Amino acid sequence: MKKQIAVFASGNGSNAENLITYFNNSKIAQVGLVLTNNPDAGVIQRAKRLNVPVCVFSKKELQNSTKVEEALKSHQIDWIVLAGFLLLFPQKIIQSFPNKIINIHPALLPKYGGKGMYGMRVHKTVAENKETETGITIHFVNENYDEGKIIFQSKTDVKRNDTPEDIAAKIHQLEYKWFPKVIEEQIKIEGFQ
Ligand code: GRF
Repeated sequence: MKKQIAVFASGNGSNAENLITYFNNSKIAQVGLVLTNNPDAGVIQRAKRLNVPVCVFSKKELQNSTKVEEALKSHQIDWIVLAGFLLLFPQKIIQSFPNKIINIHPALLPKYGGKGMYGMRVHKTVAENKETETGITIHFVNENYDEGKIIFQSKTDVKRNDTPEDIAAKIHQLEYKWFPKVIEEQIKIEGFQ
């Protein structure tokens, strides 16, 4: 039986689409559910177009109800992936999925991480600080933003005249290349334990 992955996203959803497409060709797993806290998120249309069920919830429902847990249960979810999900992930779900929740961050943690450091804010700060390199970090999720055990990092150089948009484009290329592969590898490793 293929492992079922749930993808949480709050915005555009290009990583979510990349994951859905990649795992449509995987023998060991598939994206069985997309969840978002933003009713206007671009990820909703992407998931619908790719025939993946969607669950929309509020911050209050995530913290004070079992709506999300019930959606994860009814879709028999084994693994959770955060791809541009902006809310702090609740302890109650982290406890139900030990070492099975993976996030991607668009910088080389521990630099440029933490509450409020996401998306273009990260790339703007990297550019302002005249960094010569940046990258992506894929890590397990714990109760603190961007502090879980790091699984994988990949770097890219930053040219002096790179704009935050140039940096964002380089980062997305790294994300689309590595995120599905790293998740699949973790599922394989866990599968054999
Ligand atoms: C990605 O760069 C991810 O690293 C960050 O938020 C961005 C989401 O982009 N956490 P998208 O919604 O997948 O296009």
